[in-house]
Amino acid sequence: MTTTLVTGIGELVTNDPARGPLLGIVPDAALVVDGHHVAWVGPAADAPDADARVDLGGRAVIPGFVDSHSHLVFAGDRGAEFAARMTGQPYTAGGIRSTVAATRAATDEQLTSHVAALVTEMRRQGTTTVEIKSGYGLTVRDEARSLAIARMFTEETTYLGAHVVPADADPAAYLELVTGPMLEAAAPHARWIDAFCERGAFDVDAARAVLAAGAAQGLRGRLHANQLSYGDGVRLACELGLPAVDHCTYLSSTDIAALADSGTIATLLPGVEFSTRQPWPQAGRLLAAGVRVALASDCNPGSSYTSSMPFCVALAVREMGMSPEQALYAATATGAAALGRADIGALVVGARADFAVLEAPSHLHLSYRPGVPLVSATWVGGRRT
Ligand code: NIG
Ligand code: FE
Repeated sequence: MTTTLVTGIGELVTNDPARGPLLGIVPDAALVVDGHHVAWVGPAADAPDADARVDLGGRAVIPGFVDSHSHLVFAGDRGAEFAARMTGQPYTAGGIRSTVAATRAATDEQLTSHVAALVTEMRRQGTTTVEIKSGYGLTVRDEARSLAIARMFTEETTYLGAHVVPADADPAAYLELVTGPMLEAAAPHARWIDAFCERGAFDVDAARAVLAAGAAQGLRGRLHANQLSYGDGVRLACELGLPAVDHCTYLSSTDIAALADSGTIATLLPGVEFSTRQPWPQAGRLLAAGVRVALASDCNPGSSYTSSMPFCVALAVREMGMSPEQALYAATATGAAALGRADIGALVVGARADFAVLEAPSHLHLSYRPGVPLVSATWVGGRRT
């Protein structure tokens, strides 16, 4: 295998606790990539030789973003719904059904090339791992093909047949389908199972049944919970010991205590609050209570049509009480933990060589220079993409 010495790193964020608090920053750093993995990390002055050399001219390097929550398999456009919200219409889960109709009508090729375009957008913004859910098919065929398409782009695929009950379906019969034949068809293409636990979608008993059926097929659970209202979803996730529960916009103090006690990660999705004008999730309060917090894009055509993790980091810093360090850690290391992954999210020896090079001297520029395309290169598995 060829080794490459990446040097001239003005600031290296490692997320390695052995190197310093939280981000484990090494100034004037270098790293060696051997094949797909990191083989050496440290001050440039101590760097070993390698077969090839890349000089980054003082730029900052961060671990690649781990976007642990997205819904990229869809067709159609809901720009008009967004515009209506900006002038006062509330967001409701019902909009999902218009995307379902467009997705069912799309060909495999149309869906695949759209996912490819969104994944390319993500890569250009420093994302090196993305989780992709189904949930806009809601038939046996359309959920299975959504997941088969998602699998072409990532191992982190999630079956979300329990997104909403389709317009023409009986809720009890649909739950039977989601936990029966649809699950059978989806499971070979999925690693995770998810449910939208919310008024107007699935209640806590239905969500529990969905996760139990998935577990019986070897799928690990995650949940959409407490997005639009207070409810029992977050506590269900904690009770079941899920790695992560996502949204967490409306949290009681009992929910926060349950998160802290269980270790379940609260994955916050600031693009949703930006695009739905809901209250910002209270990241600062969660961190102060000892809850682990991740950030993800939730990229989808309804509640958050952004593919940009730097945008999410900037919102979390400006609006949610996170420091730039906490937000970057949440978008990388804790995102990896939310997917149960120990091989990504940090730049340490043996980890996958997944990183982003910033057109900036420091990671602080991610929120200091919001909206600016700061990622000048993204390396995935040791290769510049
Ligand atoms: O994560 N909450 C449910 N699902 C998506 C929204 C989907 C949509 O509006 O199309 C979400 O916000
Ligand atoms: Fe979502």
